Amino acid sequence: MKNVAIAGATGAVGQELLSILAERNFPIKSLKLLASSRSAGRKIKFKGEDITVQELRHDSFDGVDLVLSSAGGSISKEYMPSAVKAGAVVVDNTSYFRMNPEVPLVVPEINPQEIKKHKGIIANPNCSTIIMLVPLFPLYKAFGIERVQACTYQASSGAGATAMEELRLECAALAEGKTFKRTVIPHQYAFNLFPHNSSYNDGSPDKSAVHAPTGYCEEEWKMIAETHKIFGDSSLRVNATCVRVPVLRAHSEALNIRFSKKVSISDIYGILREAPGVEILEEPSKNRWPMPIDASGKDPVLVGRIRVDQSQENTFDMWVVGDQIRKGAALNAVQIAELL
Ligand code: A2P
Repeated sequence: MKNVAIAGATGAVGQELLSILAERNFPIKSLKLLASSRSAGRKIKFKGEDITVQELRHDSFDGVDLVLSSAGGSISKEYMPSAVKAGAVVVDNTSYFRMNPEVPLVVPEINPQEIKKHKGIIANPNCSTIIMLVPLFPLYKAFGIERVQACTYQASSGAGATAMEELRLECAALAEGKTFKRTVIPHQYAFNLFPHNSSYNDGSPDKSAVHAPTGYCEEEWKMIAETHKIFGDSSLRVNATCVRVPVLRAHSEALNIRFSKKVSISDIYGILREAPGVEILEEPSKNRWPMPIDASGKDPVLVGRIRVDQSQENTFDMWVVGDQIRKGAALNAVQIAELL
C-alpha cells in the first residue's frame, strides 16, 4: 500500500488519473491531491470519499511514496526535485524530464525494463508518441522499420481541461452565430483545424531555445526524438506533421511505414492481433474504421485501414486512434506505477 500524491489533480489528466487508480484498484494507503492555490480547499471524490485539494508546495511530499505529476513542465521542473528529495518516486507526465539521459522514458508495452534504472523520476512520453508507438513497436521488432511518416489529428484534451471546455463553448457559440473569446487556444478551433501550436522554430537566433529543428514545431520533434529514445534506436527515420482538430479527447494518426524487408499484409495482421494494448477495428464492408468517439474512454489503441502503399515497395499505411487522456497520459502513468 502506497502513499500517493497527484500534482495537477484538478486538470484533465489529473482527473483521469483518479478514475484509473480507482478502476484498477491501485494499492493506495493515502491520497494527496495537489493543484494551484486557485483550487486549494476544493473537494474531489475518490472512491466515495471527499478529499480536499491542497496547494502544491515544496513541502507537500513528506511521507509520499509515489507522485503522479501532470501540472505542466515548469511546475515539474520547480517541484519534482523536492518530491525526489523527500524520498518519493515521480512518474512525470510533462515534457520537462523526457529527454534527460538520466530519466527513463517508458511505455510499459515497449520498454518496461527501463523502469529499473530510475533515479527518482520516470517520464511518461508525449501522447501522440505513445499512441503511434504502441502498434508500431511490435511491427518494428518483427520486421524492422526503415522509416515512418506520421500525420496527426489531435484532440483538444492535449491542451488541458480549459481547452476542452473552450472547444465545447466555442462550438455552441458559433452554432448560434455568436462570437466566442478564447483564452487557451490561439486560433478558431470550432469547425476548423490548424497545424499544432507548440513552439515553432522559424530559424531565427531567438528561437535557439525551441527544442525542434528549423521548420518543425516542438510537438513534431517530440514524436521523432522520443521514438528514438524509447526504441533505443536513433537510426530509425521518423517524420511527423502535427495538427489540432476539433475533437474532444482522442488523437488519430495516419502512419505510413516502410519496412526493412518484404512483408505481407497478413504478416502485419498476425503481429497486430497479438500486440498488447492494440485492438484492430475494421468493418471494410461498411467502410467503417476507428474514430475518436470509438477510442474515447477506452484503453486500447485502435488500428484500422491497414493497406499496401502502392507508391513504393515494402510500405504500408495504417490509421491509429487512441484516447489522449488515457493511454496517451494517465493510463500509461498508472501502468508504470503498477510495474514500479
Ligand atoms: P488548477 O486547476 O488549480 O489551475 P490541465 O492540463 O487540464 O490544464 O491541468 C493543469 C493542472 O495543473 C491543474 O490541476 C492545475 O491546477 C495545475 N496547475 C497549474 N498551475 C499550477 C501551479 N502553479 N501549481 C500547482 N498546480 C498547478
